[in-house]
Amino acid sequence: MKLHIAVLPGDGIGPEVIAQAVKTLKAIATEYNHVFTFEYGLVGAAAIKKTGSALPEETLELCKKADTVLFGAIGSPQYDKDPDAKIRPEQGLLGLRKALDLHTNIRPIIAYEDLSNKSPLRKKWIKDVNLCFYRELTGGIYFGEKTWSNDGNTASDTCTYTRNQIERVAHSAFKAAKSRRNKLTLVDKANVLASSKLWRKVVMEMALQYPEVDVNYLYVDQAAMQLIINPKQFDIILIENMFGDIISEEASVIVGSIGLLASASLGDKYSMFEPIHGAYFKATDKGIANPIAAILSAAMLLEHFDLHEEAALTRRAVDKSLQLHITTPDLNTKYDNISTSKVGDFIEDFISNPEETNLN
Ligand code: IPM
Repeated sequence: MKLHIAVLPGDGIGPEVIAQAVKTLKAIATEYNHVFTFEYGLVGAAAIKKTGSALPEETLELCKKADTVLFGAIGSPQYDKDPDAKIRPEQGLLGLRKALDLHTNIRPIIAYEDLSNKSPLRKKWIKDVNLCFYRELTGGIYFGEKTWSNDGNTASDTCTYTRNQIERVAHSAFKAAKSRRNKLTLVDKANVLASSKLWRKVVMEMALQYPEVDVNYLYVDQAAMQLIINPKQFDIILIENMFGDIISEEASVIVGSIGLLASASLGDKYSMFEPIHGAYFKATDKGIANPIAAILSAAMLLEHFDLHEEAALTRRAVDKSLQLHITTPDLNTKYDNISTSKVGDFIEDFISNPEETNLN
């Protein structure tokens, strides 16, 4: 298969982890005779520095003409000190999600047996957790009207959802539930918010089209607690944009490190794959950033293009690296000098030679 991939490494640890994901994809291409080409673009603080915009027109064009997008991370502490900043790195990511209409964000949370001692939660609660968020990504409070009063003392963000926005992500979530354990939980705040009431109404109606799926409804405050005390009860969690941002990050506690969590952002025409973690600026160029989230995002990219065998091999390589403790310091138990690129090298070697790869 030929794939032209737009690569947007972004800021902080983004470039380091994306380099490992690209290394992985190149190894897969070699093994399976695919032709993957990579074209790089600027986004986030790196783009602001060079062009004044967090999402330069050139980058957007690159993403539109590519078959898909591999995204690293964005953010820089420089902007956090100034709440009045008009241009922020995050505009790059939000602008891409909107411009490419990437409405469905899929975030799998899978507990690894080998890492069960890395979570602060008790082993028996997290063993076998396998849930997946379907987060709406282009609506809600993130993209609603924002206003400031003239005196600067009142500000508002509007949370708006349309039936269509809810239905498109919900259909994907229901279909995913059908292919898994037939369980879907809608997380909302329908006891208070009008937009949540619409979500609940629409999902209740849609549930009739998916009779085999057991649908549950949970307020977001309850969900925050249930996710920690009994995460195994969940299969698919359908959730609006901001609640999804918060609750999915909470879920990283189950797995043991946010450095393991990958995601796919899908629209009707475009797709983008990115680790859930941020730019982790403090760790830039120290070789301590965990590349697994980026590598697993590459695996999701392969699955998206129906390269299932290739994705499975990538996942096996990741499993093996965890089993052998070939991991960065956020997870490491045995060795203390395993760098970001060393993890990438191991995964690359495993893909080329699955039977023989060991730490050397
Ligand atoms: C995420 C991030 C983004 C979000 C930021 C960087 C804008 O936290 O992908 O979860 O809030 O959606």
